[in-house]
Amino acid sequence: MSQQQSSSANTNRVTRRRFVAGTGAALALTAVSAEVARGYSANQKVTIGIIGCGGRGVWIGDLFQQHGGYQIVGAADYFQQRVDNLGNKFQIKEANRFTGLSGYKRLLDMKPDAVVIESPPYFHPDQTWDAVDAGCHAFVAKPIAVDVPGCLRFLEAGKRATEKKRCVLVDFQTRADGLYQECVRRVHAGDIGPIVSAEAVYYTGGTWGVEFDPSDPEKRLLRWGRDRILSGDIITEQNIHALDVATWFLDRDPIKAYGMCNRRGRQDPAAAPDVLCNDAFACVFLFPDDVLLSFASKQYGTGIEDIGCWVFGPKGTAETHYWGAVLIRGEKSFKGGKLAHLYTDGAVANIAAFHKAIVEGEHSNRTVAPSVRSNLTTILGRTAAYRRAEVSWDEMLKAGEKLEFPLKGLKS
Ligand SMILES: NC(=O)c1ccc[n+]([C@@H]2O[C@H](COP(=O)([O-])OP(=O)(O)OC[C@H]3O[C@@H](n4cnc5c(N)ncnc54)[C@H](O)[C@@H]3O)[C@@H](O)[C@H]2O)c1
Repeated sequence: MSQQQSSSANTNRVTRRRFVAGTGAALALTAVSAEVARGYSANQKVTIGIIGCGGRGVWIGDLFQQHGGYQIVGAADYFQQRVDNLGNKFQIKEANRFTGLSGYKRLLDMKPDAVVIESPPYFHPDQTWDAVDAGCHAFVAKPIAVDVPGCLRFLEAGKRATEKKRCVLVDFQTRADGLYQECVRRVHAGDIGPIVSAEAVYYTGGTWGVEFDPSDPEKRLLRWGRDRILSGDIITEQNIHALDVATWFLDRDPIKAYGMCNRRGRQDPAAAPDVLCNDAFACVFLFPDDVLLSFASKQYGTGIEDIGCWVFGPKGTAETHYWGAVLIRGEKSFKGGKLAHLYTDGAVANIAAFHKAIVEGEHSNRTVAPSVRSNLTTILGRTAAYRRAEVSWDEMLKAGEKLEFPLKGLKS
């Protein structure tokens, strides 16, 4: 979901006590230089640079600061005004604020211990790869990429990070939540019997309004959430929250998908229909053992907000909602619970887990492979929906279609 959409969820501020409880980190923290910090101890601050200083960059910067184990030392955004906005808030020296497409590279030259990547998804694979290459840990917003080559590059970056003893963490809030984890564990343990079918939905209003100017690349960068190439379309950019939960339960790659999408909800100007994101998707995925996943999404209108997943087996049904209940009904029921603030709590848990992994030297980077799988699943659904035809996983991987954004006219 976008920062705009989640603003009501954001009102749940995080208390210092909750952070400390989450991390177990000592209160007395000392800043250390990047060189010294390579061998961390729990009482040393991890220096971070933020890449992408828009809504989520600023919002999550607060959470990193409240954690207590981090020190924000630099930032990069394409736009000066954005980096200054964040820089002023977190008292970052002007010399440590970078702009343009390659601004993040100058941030990496500063050798912060870690970067927090909150830029449009199109840039995530290269920024993550370069961060790992520069010896930094990387905390990355979903989705990790917009196309197949980007997903594979991200997977390689994760493996490379493990080899280089660096941490990469993908910030899916659901995967960090105890109720979700327990529900998935029980389904994997057989509590609903073998999964026969599943359903995933993502329903929200039109989070990015209708203005869009395809002729100006800077305006496209600012309105990237309406731009198919920069965002990957709604199925990859936003609906991934639902498909990530579904693929977590199913724990396999899909074999093929069929789908359709349309753009009839937001009353857009007629311009650039091939560049603007769609408003609704409907797809069916086939998984091994004839398991079916049906998926639907919409990003326009009013009346419903839900990121839901149902998993059906002969002995029960598991049900999850990002803003609500997580439970299992059936022979072995799981009462579960109701989530009120997963948007914030999940990010807080991920920030704590990232810190813990860094200071304890835990470099298995477990969030990378499942994030690549769910990202590729969204791309499979998108490819099928664009063609209104059946597309197989193998065919999609073999084709390796790359989305190209025209960078000409942008500041390097
Ligand atoms: N629940 C969630 O997990 C959640 C919620 C909101 C956003 N996000 C993710 O966070 C990321 C950022 O979203 P946002 O809502 O903050 O968007 P935003 O538009 O508010 O901010 C993005 C920022 O990136 C900057 N930018 C553009 N190109 C850049 C480049 N090449 N290098 C550096 N900076 C660049 C833009 O100028 C802008 O300031 C997206 O990947 C989005 O999916 C995740």
